Amino acid sequence: SVNVAASLKADDPSTLTCSELDNFDWDNLGFNLMPAEFMYTMKCSKGENFTQGELCRYGNIELSPSACVLNYGQGLLEGAKAFRGENGRLRLFRPEQNAIRMQIGAERMCMPSPSTHQFVEAVKEIALANHRWIPPTGKGSLYIRPLLMGSGAILGVAPSPEYTFLIYASPVGNYFKEGTAALNMYVEEEFHRASRGGAGGIKAITNYSPVLKAQANAKNRGFSDVLYLDSNSKTNIEEASSSNVFIVKGNVISTPALSGTILEGITRKSIIEIAKDLGYKVEERCVKVEELNDADEVFCTGTAAGVAPIGSVTYQDKRVNYSMEGQLISQKLYSTLVGIQRGLIEDKWGWIVEI
Ligand code: COI
Repeated sequence: SVNVAASLKADDPSTLTCSELDNFDWDNLGFNLMPAEFMYTMKCSKGENFTQGELCRYGNIELSPSACVLNYGQGLLEGAKAFRGENGRLRLFRPEQNAIRMQIGAERMCMPSPSTHQFVEAVKEIALANHRWIPPTGKGSLYIRPLLMGSGAILGVAPSPEYTFLIYASPVGNYFKEGTAALNMYVEEEFHRASRGGAGGIKAITNYSPVLKAQANAKNRGFSDVLYLDSNSKTNIEEASSSNVFIVKGNVISTPALSGTILEGITRKSIIEIAKDLGYKVEERCVKVEELNDADEVFCTGTAAGVAPIGSVTYQDKRVNYSMEGQLISQKLYSTLVGIQRGLIEDKWGWIVEI
């Protein structure tokens, strides 16, 4: 392993120049894997706590064919971002929220988890070690992907005897291939993302592949992504494949309430705070699929997705289009969020961790 972070000082501007990546085209970043040079790993046995992790070069990891994560999906993912601020300093956005969400998910999945301090320090190390991969300010961010998995070998269904916490990173731009253009969403009626008592409220790795089919069907029909309905009444919207959803009607912004089937997005909760601060009324409640018919705006939020405007929603073969004229409320919310992330707007909530 290489102790890179110790030799780097983010507040020394000379360490922030993209010397090795001088000719890199930062203008066309999408959400494609371009692994940054270093990853972080930390292991512990069942019944123990994580103690000491290390940085090493990004590369394949060794797993037993019987690893619990491979056989039974005992795993969690997180998503965080590091930004280059206007002043050149590196900035993380609410990393402790990722740590807490991982702890809650780990409890649900019978896994040990890193403490908030361990998690945040590891994210800082990853951002510093890979600082050359953090895009210039305004061009994107370094997407940081923490994983927690049952890496030990096991045959019967039971918690893994060993756990691995791992973080890798990749520079990213817009998540959707539409870039910043409005998305066309399809309301899925056959497949559901989560059910009551399940794991929809945590970032279990097993929440993502069961929706690939619905997503693929929708994409084949020209849609950007899918909106899922609750599996019980099939009348309430829940979220999209990898983001939360909001609707706007007049001065009121509504989003499905957290009920165990909805992921508690960090962007979701930040947008709620920003919207209230800007004077909007925010409601976390059941949002009926019919409400999409007369909403003024619909948008989705996520660490990866940012705040993405939705231009149309198709439900039961009926397409509703939303006006993209004038300044959208979603745009106003997003520019405030991005302003805070980049250091253009005062961070009065203390969301930014400068490193
Ligand atoms: C994120 O927004 O960071 C996520 O984890 C969504 C991901 C599945 C792309």
